[in-house]
Amino acid sequence: MSAADSTVRLLLLAALSGEHILYIGPPGTAKSELGRRLSRLCHGVYFERLLTRFSVPEELFGPLSMRALEEDKYIRQTSGYLPEATVAFVDEIFKANSAILNTLLTLLNERLFDNGSTRVHVPLLCLVGASNELPESEELDALYDRFLLRRRVQQVSQAGLLEMLGNGGGRKQAIALRSPGTQGLQSVDDPAVQPLLTADDFDHTRERALDAVEVPPSVLQLIADLRTYLQASAAPAGNCLLDKCEPPVYVSDRRLVKAVALMQVAAYTSGRSRVSEYDCLLLRHILWQRPDEAERIYDWLLNNLASDDGLQQLQFILNGMFGRACKNLGNPEATAMLVKEVGDVRETLVNKLAGVYSAMEGGFPAVMGNLWLGQEEAQAVASALLPKLEKSRKEVEDLLFEVVTLEVLLRHQAEAVVIADLMPARWADWVRNAPAEQLRPYGGANIRPAKGMWY
Ligand SMILES: *[C@@H]1O[C@H](CO)[C@@H](O)[C@H](O)[C@H]1NC(C)=O
Repeated sequence: MSAADSTVRLLLLAALSGEHILYIGPPGTAKSELGRRLSRLCHGVYFERLLTRFSVPEELFGPLSMRALEEDKYIRQTSGYLPEATVAFVDEIFKANSAILNTLLTLLNERLFDNGSTRVHVPLLCLVGASNELPESEELDALYDRFLLRRRVQQVSQAGLLEMLGNGGGRKQAIALRSPGTQGLQSVDDPAVQPLLTADDFDHTRERALDAVEVPPSVLQLIADLRTYLQASAAPAGNCLLDKCEPPVYVSDRRLVKAVALMQVAAYTSGRSRVSEYDCLLLRHILWQRPDEAERIYDWLLNNLASDDGLQQLQFILNGMFGRACKNLGNPEATAMLVKEVGDVRETLVNKLAGVYSAMEGGFPAVMGNLWLGQEEAQAVASALLPKLEKSRKEVEDLLFEVVTLEVLLRHQAEAVVIADLMPARWADWVRNAPAEQLRPYGGANIRPAKGMWY
């Protein structure tokens, strides 16, 4: 059921992004019904075909016009065929032979079709491909690459899929589009919601999303790191590099650019104007070549999402500031400058903490409320990531406590004993590492202010 849920969500996202989707799995998984429903949803012309090794171009692109042939022109009567379809379902697509392959590739990639000597634009929005097996020849690799989204489907009951399509997901969410600024998900139970997608949505969502949705540097970095992980060449024998993917998975720039656009659409249709790092979970349906790689991508993402590398750096900064605070005791000018810097760090930490709180509040809405994750999928991600957030929260809180303490001490131009008493660990650290002449004013390295002395 949940597998069907995700399958349907991905199909819609593919169509809204103007991308093609490939389902790999056994026959009888109601895949064609998915295509049919999608075409109804976007009010489009539907085309469906089952390919065999002997399929001829006529079956996909329409019969040649006899009259034109008499004049040596290869013009096709395309009405009712792929060149005039908005949504298409092609089963056993990797049976495509060389007679159809080139035309099919141009159609998928550029949405162009050579009708005799004229190149025409085709209205194709989304081609749903299905196959029992992965392509086995290099010739077919190009076709395989045309499918941005790839999804393995297990035997799912037709009833299950249809139910998903009927109510738009197990959580009874309306698949209703929201532009950035509108908050939260609406429910089908809400009578005010019109869960309708118009043809216009399918035609323009991608464009609007690319205009309106920002991709923050942290997300780009995450994607770049994932690609590095996937493409890293095999480690030499005996050299144990843990964070490498074996064997490497090649990810083209083109694919990555399209993946980012799809994530922008995902954010836009969820009412956000920024891609979140959790949208990167979609990459597990995009970046693999062999199905087992999907799991590895997912595991990598779980390991790397919701992790905070910036904290380590702030620790170092605080250490440095603490050292300067001790060195500049009794120097009001230097202390005033330091107060400002400490205030900046405090601000950074407060923002970080707010981020962690809002990520956790109400059961991880960034994940549980992500329109494009199936319910069970979202649940699994949330339970994997919550402990990490919990840990970050504790770390940020502890650090913030120290920073605020230092700030107060500086503002009151506290004496060494007070500093040592309130921030004993930092003080001990500083005393251990500071050069002797800096310690002299406090009685050398043996200074041990007694607790409570300053009360
Ligand atoms: C191809 O040309 C024929 C003859 O002019 C026309 O009927 C058909 O609509 C054209 N197909 C496309 C996709 O433009």
